[in-house]
Amino acid sequence: MRVIEWCETYLTGHPIIDHQHQALFDEINHLADDLAMNKDELELLRRVEHISVMTREHFRCEEQLMQEQHYPQLAEHQKDHRDILDNGDALIKRYKEGGVPLAELLPRFIATWAVQHIVDDDAKLAAFMRQRSRE
Ligand SMILES: [Fe+2]
Ligand SMILES: [Fe+2]
Repeated sequence: MRVIEWCETYLTGHPIIDHQHQALFDEINHLADDLAMNKDELELLRRVEHISVMTREHFRCEEQLMQEQHYPQLAEHQKDHRDILDNGDALIKRYKEGGVPLAELLPRFIATWAVQHIVDDDAKLAAFMRQRSRE
């Protein structure tokens, strides 16, 4: 089941970032499959934690790139990454404590991270990098 479809407008033009974004989309879709198949809690949690690790690694790469490129909106972008991770961690914690069903976690994560952040913030970074490469 594909709950989130990759499309070309999400491309930043940076091969590593694009690869990581697509891999994260795939993982989110796998999680949706796991949920649809009623996989056991442990397996679901493993998947969620894997997504969390991948996301952290991806943010770290992006931040390194922004530093190297002297991206003027680094601090703002970094704060957004931190907020996403904090929100994700809070949701995972609530899930582990039995307060929020995993099925609810998924759309929230997709809405805030996968789509909104890529479309708004990563797109700005991509535009900046394209501009820089033309200079
Ligand atoms: Fe980002
Ligand atoms: Fe990103």
